[in-house]
Amino acid sequence: MQMKQPVVWLVVGGGNAREHATFLRLDRELGSDRVGFYLTGSNAFLSGRANVLEASTGKSLDDAINFFAPERILLLSPNELLSGLAEGVHRYSIPCLAVSPAIAALEASKLSSKKMMLAYGVPTPMSMAVESVEEALDLVSQHWKDGELEFVIKSDGMLANASHRVVVPSTREAAIEVLQTWEGVVGRVSGQAPLLIEQKLYGEELSFHVLVDPTTYRVMPYVTDYKRLRNGDLGPNTHGMGAVATTVPEYAAVLRQVESEVLLPSLRLLRALDPNAALILYVGVMMTRDGPRVLEYNVRSGNPEWVALLQLLESSVHLLFDALLQRELHRYHPTYKPDTYSVVAMVNQKGYPEEEIFTSKQIQGFEWVSSGVEILSDGTTGSSEGEKFTSSGRVLGAATFGSSIESCRIRLYEALTHIRFEDMEFRTDIGLKFC
Ligand code: GLY
Repeated sequence: MQMKQPVVWLVVGGGNAREHATFLRLDRELGSDRVGFYLTGSNAFLSGRANVLEASTGKSLDDAINFFAPERILLLSPNELLSGLAEGVHRYSIPCLAVSPAIAALEASKLSSKKMMLAYGVPTPMSMAVESVEEALDLVSQHWKDGELEFVIKSDGMLANASHRVVVPSTREAAIEVLQTWEGVVGRVSGQAPLLIEQKLYGEELSFHVLVDPTTYRVMPYVTDYKRLRNGDLGPNTHGMGAVATTVPEYAAVLRQVESEVLLPSLRLLRALDPNAALILYVGVMMTRDGPRVLEYNVRSGNPEWVALLQLLESSVHLLFDALLQRELHRYHPTYKPDTYSVVAMVNQKGYPEEEIFTSKQIQGFEWVSSGVEILSDGTTGSSEGEKFTSSGRVLGAATFGSSIESCRIRLYEALTHIRFEDMEFRTDIGLKFC
């Protein structure tokens, strides 16, 4: 069945919380008949909607293009942006907000982004690329000095499992233990797939988000995520267990410092790689005593950071993406709710992030969640009877906003008391350090 009129945006992606939140927002702004989703994964909340076409039912991207006749295509997640799908989409001659391979490499290869940072004077921690686990073991065992020189271990390529991409060991023994199992986990370490041994830095970590086009940029509000699995920033690294974004004025000075010390050289770097680049740039920054240091570049928004930022954005997200697509960011002046916090908590299954396979468990209690909390799927699947099940390690996001961080936390965690599935876990300290 052909849609009656072309959609303004076709979102293509697996259906995670970042895509789910963006799609709902576009749907509210433009109307359901003007937005489509080609769902390559699963999302129990979106499945079955008239404006969602699912790969799991045998539909291809070609089918989605024919069905929705989109005016624009939106790719939001690394799977799509870094996989070459963006290049493939060009054959449809439909404007697509995506990144070129040169820009994708900034996120896909930690080694090449590090080289670029050094070439363009972007402040970043000292690091060394090593081509074997033995070399890494030598380096760590000889140079690790508790409290003085400690290391983070990163694999060069993109790996699906977040706990294997970056490891932040707390002791030399833990670092050695990780390295001893590393090859079995990430594959053979070589010149093509080296490890990066990076100096560990201490401070507040910030997920600096900025909209960039060839001539302009727009810094988004202060946002930070919670990468570790457990309260108190303990446990393995994950894709993110929560996020806080805020427009309260006390964080403006940090944003200005990052803008002048990190963003300006990063923009020179970005524009040298691709003068036509238009994207959401997410710079992982550590605020150290010596100033901001760049830990990584991502060439897309963070998940769940983007969900927190969307809660604050007052102006149109359609116009935001359109301004990027048209390279007319100078015309877009985003406005945000003033003096506001937004908080997102992610809910996972026990075993995440180390385990890869999870059994599907029924999720209940959504009907009791108050309207002030938005629930988003990050890994759910639905039945034809409308039941919802877990389908991956990270399962749901819950998001809210308000003028006080305390009230946000109360509302959010009250909502999560209603939701239940076997082996459900979430951090209970999201936003606590802002109180
Ligand atoms: N929350 C971290 C990321 O999206 O990479």
